[in-house]
Amino acid sequence: MALLETSHLTYSYADGSSGVNNINIKINKSKKVAFVGHNGSGKSTLFLLLNGTFKPENGNIYYKGEKINYDSKTLRNLRKEIGIVFQNSDDQIFSPSVYEDVAFGPANLGFSKEKTETLVKGALEYVGLTNVKDKAPHHLSGGQKKRVAIAGIISMEPEVIILDEPLSNLDPMGADEIMDLLNEINQAGKTILISTHDVDLAYRWADYVYILSKGNIIGEGTPQDVFNQPELLKKAHLRQPVTLETYHELKRRGLAVGGEAPSSVLELVGTLKPPELMWVDVTPGTKVGDTINLGIMYGEFAENSPYEAVNGEIVYINNDGRAIVEMKRHEIKAGGIVIYDVEDYESSYVHQLIKNAEIDIVGAMGKKSKMLAETDGIYLTITSSVIDKSILTALCGKRCLILTNGGMVEHAKNRIKNYAETSGIDLNVSILKKNSEIMRENLGDTKLNVIT
Ligand SMILES: Nc1ncnc2c1ncn2[C@@H]1O[C@H](COP(=O)(O)OP(=O)(O)O)[C@@H](O)[C@H]1O
Ligand SMILES: [Mg+2]
Repeated sequence: MALLETSHLTYSYADGSSGVNNINIKINKSKKVAFVGHNGSGKSTLFLLLNGTFKPENGNIYYKGEKINYDSKTLRNLRKEIGIVFQNSDDQIFSPSVYEDVAFGPANLGFSKEKTETLVKGALEYVGLTNVKDKAPHHLSGGQKKRVAIAGIISMEPEVIILDEPLSNLDPMGADEIMDLLNEINQAGKTILISTHDVDLAYRWADYVYILSKGNIIGEGTPQDVFNQPELLKKAHLRQPVTLETYHELKRRGLAVGGEAPSSVLELVGTLKPPELMWVDVTPGTKVGDTINLGIMYGEFAENSPYEAVNGEIVYINNDGRAIVEMKRHEIKAGGIVIYDVEDYESSYVHQLIKNAEIDIVGAMGKKSKMLAETDGIYLTITSSVIDKSILTALCGKRCLILTNGGMVEHAKNRIKNYAETSGIDLNVSILKKNSEIMRENLGDTKLNVIT
């Protein structure tokens, strides 16, 4: 059974203009769903219908199989279960302090003072705003305001969170933070719906996409499905995501292998035809038949790079010391990825780890680990698309550390293992937890655990 479903949903505004027309959607639990369409295509109208703010002129909404009747009790429950974050934070935030704003929802639901307090504290910590809880919301940055609005919704513990154009008016850093937060909330099992006209965002983020035009749904499916239909995109006045466009161009030039369309930069890189033979400068004394390690240095394969990426066999050497090398793709020497569960955060250990394990770059996933890194003076190279970027870095022979917690630990491990299995590249991934043998062995008395 779908979690949220509509049948023939239709709505017109008082002045007679049509909002949405005959909308049939099925949203499954814990999915990330994007509604994509140009301005005026009906995204906001649909969202206001979905949480019961508007009453349809025609058609029905079903939540957990139950038809929504527009009596006050059902509506109250629906709005608790389906929280909506408006496009413009200023439409949502009106209390004199961040704390009071976040407390508005739960207090309004009739929760006790104690329960409200617990929920608000939890929500503020979750979105990383505990330190500004007494500030006036209008003094915050756009990204922070958006997080206040999200915290206000989270504090009501909804099952579904709807965000209307969550990234509009945010700078790239703020936008990354919001998407990272949404992924974290989704990892915890919540269903997330966003609207956007950003095809690149929908393509890389969503599990399922609906394309809207003039109040109608004119296409739906997985992002790869939907965005590979040029006619559909044209009809919706949308363009192809850059990843896909690049892939098709590379394929046209014979540089990419066929197969499934890549859904991310990581997958796009995976479609490139690897070079089989390559000219490389080799050190004097190298002979035909020797195996050399090549790493990537300033974008070129070179010997003596600090980062080993691939092995090759010398098949020919010129008088001037340039050699033709046969690349042995099955001998790619990837670096490694260490996932550190910050539930066990120990400052001295992490600093030792970065030093002793020769960690080249550190990434953090989720608000908690980002805050910890910030307070502890750990420089974060990666703060968005952390898993993919770590794999890309490891493929160049470097070592990455990912700081994260909760369900994201397993999620990251599985994604990396899955990549290693499907690509056949030996990519090392380990999880560090408290009280481990390996940790004690490597780093003296500190007690953390490595699980692979
Ligand atoms: N308050 C309103 N009064 C009259 N028409 C409206 C109002 N809000 C939206 N519409 C109309 O409804 C249609 C869908 O708009 P909307 O849901 O806001 O689209 P989107 O969010 O995709 O930009 C548009 O034709 C728009 O002009
Ligand atoms: Mg809108």
